[in-house]
This record gives sequence, C-alpha cells and structure tokens, in this order.
Amino acid sequence: MKLDGDADKIVARYPQSGSALLPLLHLVQSEEGYVSPAGIEYCADKLGLSTAEVSAVSTFYTMYKRRPVGDYHVGVCTNTLCAVMGGDAIFATLKEHLGVGNDETTEDGRVTLEHIECNAACDFAPVMMVNWEFLDDMNPDKAVRVVDELRAGKEVHSTRGPALCTFKQAERILAGFEDPREGAVAGGGAAGHATLAGLLVSQGRTPTGPALTTEASE
Ligand code: FES
Repeated sequence: MKLDGDADKIVARYPQSGSALLPLLHLVQSEEGYVSPAGIEYCADKLGLSTAEVSAVSTFYTMYKRRPVGDYHVGVCTNTLCAVMGGDAIFATLKEHLGVGNDETTEDGRVTLEHIECNAACDFAPVMMVNWEFLDDMNPDKAVRVVDELRAGKEVHSTRGPALCTFKQAERILAGFEDPREGAVAGGGAAGHATLAGLLVSQGRTPTGPALTTEASE
C-alpha cells in the first residue's frame, strides 16, 4: 500500500504496535474512503494481528466504514434530545432532498447520509456533523443549504470554525497527521455558551451568548 511511510510513522508512536490499529484504520480510510478488505489485510500484516482481529475492531466503531463514503459524510444525530429538537425532521428532509436512504451516497459521489448517535453536543441540539465537524443548532432549511453548497463546491465552515474538508482529508487528520486548515488548531474546541449556561446559573451568574431557545435558530 502506498501509505507505507506514513503507516511506519504511526506505528513508531506506540510502544506496542497493536496500539496503532485505530489510527492506522483512519489512514486506510484516508486512502480508500473506507476500510477495504485490502486495508484490513494491510493493517493485520503491519501490526502482526489476524484479519479477524482487525475486522472485529473496524466493525465495532461507527467511524470506520464498510462501504466507500462520498466526499462529505453528513451525519444527522437522531438520538433522543436531537430527535425531539428536530433531528428526525432534518434527517427526513435530507433523505428526500438528496434522494438517498440511510448510509447511502448521492449519485455524484459527493454526499453520504447517515443517522448517527449522540455526539455529546446535546446542548447545541439538533446537531449535524460533516466529516465529524459540528454544525450546531441546525434545522431542515439550514441542513439543505449546507449539503447544496458542499455539492456545488463552495467553502462551508463548521459552526465551530474550520472550513470543512473532504472525508479522506479528515481521515488523514484523524490518523494523527497535521491539520493544514487555517485556524483549525487555534480554534481549540473550547466550550460554547450553551455548554456553560447551566454552570453559570448554578453560580448565580448570567449566561452569556445568544439567547437559549427551544427552536433551532436561523
Ligand atoms: S442527542 Fe444529539 S448530540 Fe446528544
């Protein structure tokens, strides 16, 4: 596999080679767009594991995909809080708009739609993720706008900062390589206003930031 040099760098980070399996699977996805049969064999050979062991891990975690993913993996949280706040409506709207079912990719190969479980961002519900970057406080109209702009090749930013990159680029970052996007690292991922509101109230302080509402904001 042509990523041999990068794979060696990942393996060298760990005292025991088997510990490198998770980032190595991300590296495979950065090349193949999913965990391919060839990728499973490659990881097994590289780390001295059986293909059954590699398969067991790669099918356990939802971030590892069994089929090729489009340029943008759009995950809509349909877990309890997001669902009642509008996640189900967002998912149904995107299914209709994109003409795909769950875990399916649009004909142009640009978008793969999947309903996902809670991503611990319930304070910004309903949330959508694009290649694992958050788009907070979504609603069906905003979700349609995002996928249309992505398919049109426009630059779209996560609500937490960085410009969205492709699935393969994101997988390379998740494998542990440099994030080349301007401001992405400096953004840092600090807690947002909704995350801190309860803490501030418990301290007798006034929450800051946009007013909290039960409806997705525009
Ligand atoms: S329920 Fe959607 S992020 Fe928690």
